[in-house]
Amino acid sequence: MNRIKAAIYGVGAMNSIATRMLLDKDVEIVAAISRSKDKVGKDLGDLTGLGRQLGVIVTDDAKAALAESGADVAVIAVNSYMTDAVEQLRNCAEAGVNAVTLSEEALYPWNTSPELTAELDAIAKRTGATLTGTGHQDTYWVNIVAMMMGTAHRIDHVTGRASWNVDDYGPEVAGDQQVGKTVEQFNQWLSGAERPPTFGRNVLDALVADAGLTVKSITSTTRPDVAAEPMHSQALNLDVAAGDVIGFTDIDEIQTEEGVVFTFEMSGRVYGETDGDINDWEIKGEPDLVLSNGNVPTQITTCTQLVNRIPDVINADPGFVTMEKLPRLKYRAFGFHTYLEAGAE
Ligand SMILES: NC(=O)c1ccc[n+]([C@@H]2O[C@H](COP(=O)([O-])OP(=O)(O)OC[C@H]3O[C@@H](n4cnc5c(N)ncnc54)[C@H](OP(=O)(O)O)[C@@H]3O)[C@@H](O)[C@H]2O)c1
Repeated sequence: MNRIKAAIYGVGAMNSIATRMLLDKDVEIVAAISRSKDKVGKDLGDLTGLGRQLGVIVTDDAKAALAESGADVAVIAVNSYMTDAVEQLRNCAEAGVNAVTLSEEALYPWNTSPELTAELDAIAKRTGATLTGTGHQDTYWVNIVAMMMGTAHRIDHVTGRASWNVDDYGPEVAGDQQVGKTVEQFNQWLSGAERPPTFGRNVLDALVADAGLTVKSITSTTRPDVAAEPMHSQALNLDVAAGDVIGFTDIDEIQTEEGVVFTFEMSGRVYGETDGDINDWEIKGEPDLVLSNGNVPTQITTCTQLVNRIPDVINADPGFVTMEKLPRLKYRAFGFHTYLEAGAE
């Protein structure tokens, strides 16, 4: 069985970690795509801190790289929302290249961006590619919670609470989290037409869909998280004054036709010294259930899931296939190509 060939799409914080993990699992990196003059024309190994060159030169010509490199899969870590992510996903789908992406909305975009998702689904089905959004949410906010739901007889309420450190990621994320803005600028952004869907909404949509329930109503509220004292954002290399924004907290709630309520409070902000990641889920019903796995290092679990999903995505039927429809995520002890089903490679 041949090794899997991957294209790295976006050469930032997450794909620097993912590149090492892919090489460790015998994946051949055949292309790297980025945007800035600082990166285009350089060797991927130099840019990702591997300490050695890979002979893969970063290009900004995504279409040519996908068409000519023979990539089986693109590993996308570029942006968060479907209005932006559609460019990279369309390039992959049109080239017939499977894709895993970290774009948060792509986790379950059928309700928040139905037209774009249907368009990508149709192209991918035509060219034989599979497109999937994954990352930290895949297991920790959706599939592990869905498994716990499977151990209940009756569910009244599912409540989740999670937090992550903006500075574990690159500038794209810190910009999205409005780090460094004044509260007034934040409120303008929040009330503006360009406020994109919350990451929590897509998580809850996936949980509702996985349980075969129907959304009746949705509410989302967002509050800025504000620096109590001067802070520094490593991701943006920016000093944030006391009183300015270090991120925000979304609270999403979905009421279902069947009566089950889902609530998720998610905070992404620059951490102070005493902050740590949180991932707590609670089910009220018969019986009451609790799952708490705080201090999950979300930066690493983002990348492990991004890469460990690759065999599942290559094995899956073509189309836009959301992660709750894929098999349970498994530990990959061996080269990723050894997990491909006959006919999928
Ligand atoms: N689902 C999850 O669990 C999860 C977790 C972490 C991050 N994310 C998301 O993943 C994305 C990437 O995160 P990150 O921390 O790696 O961000 P980052 O360090 O800012 O990296 C983003 C990369 O994308 C490149 N890029 C931007 N636009 C491009 C385009 N049109 N074509 C090609 N490359 C382009 C940038 O290129 P240049 O540097 O060359 O300009 C940069 O290298 C963010 O949107 C973040 O929210 C999701």
